[in-house]
Amino acid sequence: MEKTFAIIKPDAVEAKNAGKILSRIEAEGFGIVALKKHEITKAEAEGFYAEHKGKGFFSSLVTYMTSGPILVMVLERDSAIAHWRAVMGATDPAKADAGTIRKEFGASIERNAVHGSANPADAAREVVYFFPAFELL
Ligand code: RTP
Ligand code: MG
Repeated sequence: MEKTFAIIKPDAVEAKNAGKILSRIEAEGFGIVALKKHEITKAEAEGFYAEHKGKGFFSSLVTYMTSGPILVMVLERDSAIAHWRAVMGATDPAKADAGTIRKEFGASIERNAVHGSANPADAAREVVYFFPAFELL
């Protein structure tokens, strides 16, 4: 079993698509290890997306991620990182395959409904960025 870190982003929470996305997560065989609603601060969003600092879309991304509540979660199954990335689809919903979450619920390359860790090192960093150890039991 592998763990990954996922976010239901502000656009999807605002559009009341969170329940449908959580149903899809369960249908895909993930266990929900941890889940909470969170209002991410500007500093937290800048730290979370530090790899993108300096890119043209960085400040817009931070404004978007702080625009409303998000749902942060830790998901578990075999090949969780790769499987969740596949279920999410491409970053740009217009390029995402049919049947992916971003194709179904994403509005634009920025407002793309969900996040998923890219690799095991990122997953480990992202899980502890939002969850203290006692919330991961
Ligand atoms: P994520 O980290 O959120 O799971 O998404 P990702 O790996 O598919 O995409 P990444 O390149 O890491 O970009 C992080 C988030 O920044 C926004 N973005 N906007 N305007 C743009 O060109 C642009 N490119 C990326 C998206 O919200 C993307 O998910
Ligand atoms: Mg990424």
